[in-house]
Amino acid sequence: MPKRRTDRSKPDHYSKMAKKDNYPARSIYKLDEIQKKFNVIRPKDQVLDLGCSPGSWMKYAVDIVGPAGRVVGVDIKDRDMSRGGGGPDNMSFHLLDVMEMDDVAWETIGGDYTVVLSDMAPSTTGIKSVDAARSFLLCEAALGIAERVLVPGGNFVVKIFQGEDFEAFVRSVKQQFKTRKIFKPKSCRPDSKEIYVIGLGKKDMLV
Ligand SMILES: C[S@@+](CC[C@H](N)C(=O)[O-])C[C@H]1O[C@@H](n2cnc3c(N)ncnc32)[C@H](O)[C@@H]1O
Repeated sequence: MPKRRTDRSKPDHYSKMAKKDNYPARSIYKLDEIQKKFNVIRPKDQVLDLGCSPGSWMKYAVDIVGPAGRVVGVDIKDRDMSRGGGGPDNMSFHLLDVMEMDDVAWETIGGDYTVVLSDMAPSTTGIKSVDAARSFLLCEAALGIAERVLVPGGNFVVKIFQGEDFEAFVRSVKQQFKTRKIFKPKSCRPDSKEIYVIGLGKKDMLV
């Protein structure tokens, strides 16, 4: 029997919890599970959050890094100020498309990050192979950005929709990081093909 798609218009347990905990999106619990298992973000970290809107992951990360750290968010959609905007001085947002990185965009995001996160999701068609191919392109862009701005030893978290390019992408992460993990948080919707690839300890390619 085909799997029934969950009704996303109705708030589920995690959406209700996010509202209660004052986070703009239920995706916060995915990062929370990743953090509790792999400790990817640490106090004083410099975090780049790709696809950050509406801002739950940024809000969560800035609490961990503390005032000596920094969180920079990037998205093609503006952050919804009513849901997750504002925040401390060490948190900033840039309106950018990661698929169109030019000199200005590189200069805007800067470098020397210790963590790169990507919860980017493409606009979906409902055709699994098309959505997975679009997700793969976003993941490649995120990995390319991490290659350029992440310091050796840094950590990388990226969401991917599983499809035919999944294994190839996992291999690319393995090439750049000492440890690679694949993790499906319990808070992902049961009918979702999304999964997280985690790279721990970026290899120093110059050594
Ligand atoms: C699931 S949401 C992220 C939720 C976020 N982690 C949070 O906790 O609030 C995925 C985001 O990826 C962004 N996105 C998709 N394609 C992008 C691109 N090419 N460049 C930048 N952001 C992109 C979308 O606009 C969307 O806001």
